[in-house]
Amino acid sequence: MNELLAAAQAARSRAHAPYSGFQVGVALRSASGAIYAGANVENASYPEGNCAEASAIAAMVAAGEQRIVEALVVAGGERLCTPCGGCRQRLAEFADASLLVHLCGLDGLRRTVTLGELLPLAFELTASSEAVPSAGDAPSPWPAAVAQIQARCDLRPRVGLILGSGLGSLADAIAVAQSLPYAELPGFPAPSVEGHGGRLILGRLAGLPVACLQGRVHLYEGVGTGPVNLLVRTLRGLGCSHLILTNAAGSLRPEIDPGSLVLIEDHINLLGTSPLIGPNDPAIGPRFPDMGEAYDPELRRRLRAVAERQGQPLPGGVYLATLGPAFETPAEIRAFRALGADLVGMSTVPEVISARHAGLRVAALSVVTNLAAGLAPEPLSHAQTLSAAEAASGALVRLLQGLFEELAKDGWTDD
Ligand code: HPA
Repeated sequence: MNELLAAAQAARSRAHAPYSGFQVGVALRSASGAIYAGANVENASYPEGNCAEASAIAAMVAAGEQRIVEALVVAGGERLCTPCGGCRQRLAEFADASLLVHLCGLDGLRRTVTLGELLPLAFELTASSEAVPSAGDAPSPWPAAVAQIQARCDLRPRVGLILGSGLGSLADAIAVAQSLPYAELPGFPAPSVEGHGGRLILGRLAGLPVACLQGRVHLYEGVGTGPVNLLVRTLRGLGCSHLILTNAAGSLRPEIDPGSLVLIEDHINLLGTSPLIGPNDPAIGPRFPDMGEAYDPELRRRLRAVAERQGQPLPGGVYLATLGPAFETPAEIRAFRALGADLVGMSTVPEVISARHAGLRVAALSVVTNLAAGLAPEPLSHAQTLSAAEAASGALVRLLQGLFEELAKDGWTDD
């Protein structure tokens, strides 16, 4: 990427922008590996003129090439400078939807997106009379995310981790090889909830290569289930065969009080949706995945054994997922107890469904941050969730470190 940035910066410094005063540089890498750069060229018919993308594309085509594999835009100013509508279409003539477009400021890379994100429905001559594609035809950016992560870090993780509210401190135990803000990864969501960091950390935990997503998305954020699939499928694409999730949850059993760790043994999905709704991609998993052993018996056995050795109580429980973001009413909690739930929370289940569909083995742990609605006199709040999760996170980190040490002893360290 540095070569592209240098070429775009050099072109930008030669831009002819006397009317807008806004200089833009673009560099394109073609299929042959050559780099073509361009700058905006204005004239007195401004705002007509040549965008930097158009200039760079013209240079590439004049050199006899027709395929762009990577693009970079650099401009000054506070806001991200994205290719204009016309240039998105120009790029789409010579690239597919997974093209990575790096958006840079004068301070360097700010965000990478795919062309598909910028231009969900490119106009193609052959497609002009076809029906509007369905949601399942939308470009799936996880291969682009995997490609970009692998270009920036050669560690091949075996285990993925997704950390819940206030439980990000597990990441401190990782010997970090690379830390990538979500904002730099194509399609990655910007978590909007306090307590969710928004970083992918690649490194080693007790010697084991891991990919840790510090920050998850919740359905109540209104972003749909797409980002859940993106995160899980990216972990799988990076090489993870196992996924460990943590969350903060309310307890429906008064004897399992705040601060307790609970091993999730099964779940009840009351979200009213699934990340698998829509067309199925059989290359990822089956249309109707089995959920009989969603929480891997072998990982659960190992976690129980580690907890016992550490003298850490680890009751098992059934986690019930609600959409949120409002906490439950006492009547709902009584109903959930009758349904067989021990824990209640607003996350984890979509990730588990997506992961099982994609063939990952899953384990999940809850940190109990409160007794569920109606079981304790105090009102519930997110601040309380965060502070109780942080207070209990030491035990969680010890337990997972113990698990990873065990897996490392069994030879899982090869990446
Ligand atoms: N309900 C739902 N989600 C939660 C709770 C709760 O009581 N505690 C932490 N996350």
